[in-house]
Amino acid sequence: MSLSGKKILIAVSGGIAAYKIHFLIRDFIKKGAEVQVIMTPDAEHFVTKLSLSTLSKKPVYADFYSDNGTWNSHVEMGLWADIMLVAPCTANTLSKMVHGMCDSLVIATYMSAKCPVFIAPAMDLDMYVHPSTKKNLELAESFGHYIIPAEHGELASGLIGQGRMAEPDTILAAIEDFFNADTKKTLVGKTVLITAGPTYEAIDPVRFIGNHSSGKMGFSLADEASKRGAKVILISGPSAEIAHGENIDLYRVTSAKEMLAKVFEFYETVDIGIASAAVADYAPKQVAKEKIKKNDESLTIELVKNPDILRTMGEQKTHQFLVGFALETQNEEENAKVKLEKKNLDMIVLNSLRDEGAGFKNDTNKIKIFTKTEEKEFDLKSKDKVAADILDFVEFQLLK
Ligand code: C5P
Repeated sequence: MSLSGKKILIAVSGGIAAYKIHFLIRDFIKKGAEVQVIMTPDAEHFVTKLSLSTLSKKPVYADFYSDNGTWNSHVEMGLWADIMLVAPCTANTLSKMVHGMCDSLVIATYMSAKCPVFIAPAMDLDMYVHPSTKKNLELAESFGHYIIPAEHGELASGLIGQGRMAEPDTILAAIEDFFNADTKKTLVGKTVLITAGPTYEAIDPVRFIGNHSSGKMGFSLADEASKRGAKVILISGPSAEIAHGENIDLYRVTSAKEMLAKVFEFYETVDIGIASAAVADYAPKQVAKEKIKKNDESLTIELVKNPDILRTMGEQKTHQFLVGFALETQNEEENAKVKLEKKNLDMIVLNSLRDEGAGFKNDTNKIKIFTKTEEKEFDLKSKDKVAADILDFVEFQLLK
């Protein structure tokens, strides 16, 4: 049973396609999954709690409170689920999800869920192509959610176009693929070292030189490598991100020098090195012992070059497959290729600040990968998916 033991939380919103959910629940249960259904108040116009609970073998909730006066915990359901599927997802529910308009059990549960979220939109064709729907779907995608696109066909309105919720078989296949991909342990036995986040270079006890890197790309890479069975050593500068994978050893450092020292504690044992950190190029020559007072009209801080961690990794490379990042604002491709050579890398990932949604802070990224002989450009995607693309490419190179 391909979904054995998987916990699937289905949120049904008020669209005519809700009737299809019965078939999907039956298939999930047949394949060994546990299913919990919740619904928006409007969904009750289309399907009944009774039919859904009969098929899912669990009570179905639409409200925070049950008729017997008990509380339906959105937090518990959100944390219970391995995945959440919102199907059918109406324009209204989609909009509430991406804007945090938390006025129902479904949205509160969605906002409490830490698991991957799948969205199967269903609406009339004009609503589906409306800029607000498009924007909301893009936003959902940028949160790392998986969109199962609506299909083309006859709609409840009688019109023909795109907007029909994907068929239960298509939704089932997308979810099975997700769980199967999860178990594709392609990096078992490999150790992957990843640098992430910015570095902070102290000026005095309270100030530093830093940059806007969030660490998201590096943490997504660590999570993805861990899913694939790798042992991950994640060395991060100051970042609010948390690592989710089980086999990730996370070391938090502050400055470039600390990052360098930590990298070289492990470097010899590593199969793949990925430098996604935005390391400060320069650090103050002297760190003032006391907080610098604002006395003079101007203040000069002398900076000295920081170690180039990746370049040092390249120089000392014995067997490691080395991946660098390049964030460029001009002559992007040329500069990336020069870095590939100069730092003795096997692969470089270029993200250009010119691409909207790419680079620092964003949840999305748009990359182009170069090796000495190949190049490949990717679309704008969530950083989780970009991490998967990067590791697919690394694995492909290692297989050669
Ligand atoms: O030379 P540049 O800073 O543009 O190169 C970017 C790549 O080098 C990134 O992979 C970054 O993590 C790495 N790097 C590093 N140490 C530095 C500067 C950059 O590891 N001091």
